[in-house]
Amino acid sequence: MTDKEIIAIANQNGGVGKTTTTMNLGAALSESRQSVLLIDLDPQGTLTIAHGFDSDNLSNTIYNPLIDHTFNIKEAILKTENGPSLIPANLDLSAAEVELLNELGRETYLRESLKSLRDSYNFILIDCPPSLGLLTINALVAADAVIIPVTTQYLRFRGLKLLLETIERVRDKFNLNLPLPRMLPTMFQSHTIHSREVLEELKNTFNSQVFKTIIRHTVRLAEAPISGQSILKYRKTSPHAEAYRNLAKEVKRWLSVHQ
Ligand SMILES: Nc1ncnc2c1ncn2[C@@H]1O[C@H](COP(=O)(O)OP(=O)(O)O)[C@@H](O)[C@H]1O
Ligand SMILES: [Mg+2]
Repeated sequence: MTDKEIIAIANQNGGVGKTTTTMNLGAALSESRQSVLLIDLDPQGTLTIAHGFDSDNLSNTIYNPLIDHTFNIKEAILKTENGPSLIPANLDLSAAEVELLNELGRETYLRESLKSLRDSYNFILIDCPPSLGLLTINALVAADAVIIPVTTQYLRFRGLKLLLETIERVRDKFNLNLPLPRMLPTMFQSHTIHSREVLEELKNTFNSQVFKTIIRHTVRLAEAPISGQSILKYRKTSPHAEAYRNLAKEVKRWLSVHQ
C-alpha cells in the first residue's frame, strides 16, 4: 500500500506564497520519487501560468470535472517540466463558484471529482484562491491535510483566526479526520527586526503547528516561474531549493509517509 495524501495550500490573503509553495513543494516531493499532481484552484490561474501554460488557451481545466460529472478528470491533466502533473485553471473557474452555489452537496464536488485520481498519485496539492469562498471550502473538504503559508512581512494573524475557524467547521461537518493545519513561514528577511518578531510571534502562538523550515525572501523565487521552472530546476543547489527539499521531508514526517 502506498500512502496517498491530498494537501490544500490555503490562506485567504493574497501574496503570502500559496502558489509558490504549491509549485516548489510539489517539485521537491516529485524529486524524492513521489508521484505528484498539482491542482490550480485559483481562477487567476497563477499556478498554471507559472508552469509556462497559456491559461487563456486550454481545452480542459479543473472547471470541467467540477461542473460536469460525466467529464473524465484525467483528460484535464497536463505534464510539466518540473516533475509533477498539473490540472490547470483559468477565469472559467470563477463561474464554477457561482454555478455550484445552488447545487446540493456543493461543498463536496472537488472531493468527488478527485476520487478516481487518488490511486494514481502519492500527493495531490491544491493551490487555493485568496478567499474563503466555495472553492477553498471544496479544497478543505477534499483535503487530508492543510498547509497555511504565512508571510513574515506583516502581522496578519487576525485573518488566520477566521481561516482556522473555517477549517474547524469543515472538519466538524465534512472531514472528521482532518489534522490540525501546519503553518509555513514565508518571505522571511533575517536582517529585519520586524520579520524576526513576526516569526517569534507565530511560533509562540502556534508552537508545533509551525514548520521548522522557513522560506526566505528572495527574488529567485519570483524569477523562476518566468521560465516555467521550479526553484529546484532554476537554482538546483541554492539554499532556497534546499529549503523546499527540507519542507518535503517535514511534510512526509508529519503525514507519516514512508520515505
Ligand atoms: N519567498 C519569497 N521571496 C520573494 N518573493 C516571493 C516569495 N514567495 C513568493 N514570492 C513572490 O510573491 C508574489 C506572491 O506569491 P504567491 O506564491 O503567488 O502568493 P499567493 O499564491 O499566496 O497569492 C509572487 O510574485 C511570488 O513570485
Ligand atoms: Mg496564488
